[in-house]
Amino acid sequence: MVRMVHVGVVGAGYVGLTTAACLASLGHDVVCADIDEARVERLRRGDVPFHEPGLTALLSKALASGRLRFVLGAAAAAENRQVVFLCVATPQGDDGNHDLTFIDAATDDIAQALAPNTVVVTKSTVPIGTAQRITQRLGRGDVYVAANPEFLAEGTAVSDFMSPSRIIVGSENRDAAWLVASLYGHISAPVVVTDSASAELIKLASNAFLATKLSFVNTVSAVCEQIGANVNDVAGAMGLDPRIGSRYLHAGPGWGGSCLPKDTRALVHAAAQVGVDFGVVAAAISANDTQLQRIADKIIAAAAGGTVGVWGLTFKANTDDLRDSPSLTIVDRVLASGAAVTAFDPAISAAHPLIPHQVQIVGSALTAATGASCLAVLTEWDDFRWIPPAEVAAVMDGRTVVDGRDLLNAADWSAAGFTVRGIGS
Ligand code: UDX
Repeated sequence: MVRMVHVGVVGAGYVGLTTAACLASLGHDVVCADIDEARVERLRRGDVPFHEPGLTALLSKALASGRLRFVLGAAAAAENRQVVFLCVATPQGDDGNHDLTFIDAATDDIAQALAPNTVVVTKSTVPIGTAQRITQRLGRGDVYVAANPEFLAEGTAVSDFMSPSRIIVGSENRDAAWLVASLYGHISAPVVVTDSASAELIKLASNAFLATKLSFVNTVSAVCEQIGANVNDVAGAMGLDPRIGSRYLHAGPGWGGSCLPKDTRALVHAAAQVGVDFGVVAAAISANDTQLQRIADKIIAAAAGGTVGVWGLTFKANTDDLRDSPSLTIVDRVLASGAAVTAFDPAISAAHPLIPHQVQIVGSALTAATGASCLAVLTEWDDFRWIPPAEVAAVMDGRTVVDGRDLLNAADWSAAGFTVRGIGS
């Protein structure tokens, strides 16, 4: 039997809202705060402000149970709580480190509202030493601080939260750490209780390791193209070795999103600050840029100054997140070459500040391909797989497809008259 804990969650973004809804569904009493009044109003109505499979259903259940409430402002989520999670944004700072402006502001907002013995917990990815920084900033000898990094990926956030590979809690106070760990009592996963710096490093090192693995396989894909080998066969066989593992071995146009680019730079920066040259991660970052450029070059060559039809703008499928999207970096470079871009993404229906204004957003994959000299598949939305190549051939001017995600059935597309330029074959 898990003891019900009174939890506060500050920040209702991907991590905060998922944490709040999941903890309420695990039986805890949760108050979740945001500083955006419109967002709070929407959430009170059960309206999730971003695309995340399963979250709307979980939110309605949690609201109906009465165990989840939304409030405006961090202080309101801190009063009379036993555990308060800080889930505010930690964007990339100018110096390579995460920018802690929102963490600092939330810390200041809750400092006087916290009841004695409350545990304040970071869940967003933070620089090493943030728990210590919060402890000092709170200036309260009667509350505790812990780091409980979240490993959820967008698109699978709810299942990642409910079935995590591990639960990490770091704190200088072991009772505080175990109280945080106890929140997940119904979940079967290894629990690691450690100090706060180790917990913070576990998160950064995990994301940097995944990024390095991806850059490794993306570079293997470049070698495959030169020697006539097939990266799927190579990576598939590598992944059969349990010491390597099969996940994060799918070659693509480069990695992106709100975490991997930021966390890799933050780890290189954190290591440099203590005199350690983390060259292997720096090389992974630079290899990622090489991969993005390689795909952009293939598209630019095929388009020959004409129009490029782009399928997919989000940084991966099953999200509407455009932050640090490989697709958008590639689109930028294609536009710089003088080609025009018409794009379709199932999750994007209108102009967006992160999408260059020259890109024409259209409402279907076929419309994006219409009149195009080259088609580029840049996000792995499953829908694209099933579009008949003959229908695309009927509307396109050119006959080249750059499949940056190795998504399409190359034999079917070749049979329909296309030259398919994939990744690593
Ligand atoms: C990541 C981590 O996976 C998660 O644990 C952490 O909490 C936040 O950062 P997310 O940003 O949602 O999650 O993205 P992820 O699914 O890891 O993908 C990152 C990038 O790698 C995407 O651009 C994706 O398309 C790319 N990728 C992933 C590949 O190119 N090939 C793969 O095999 C896997």
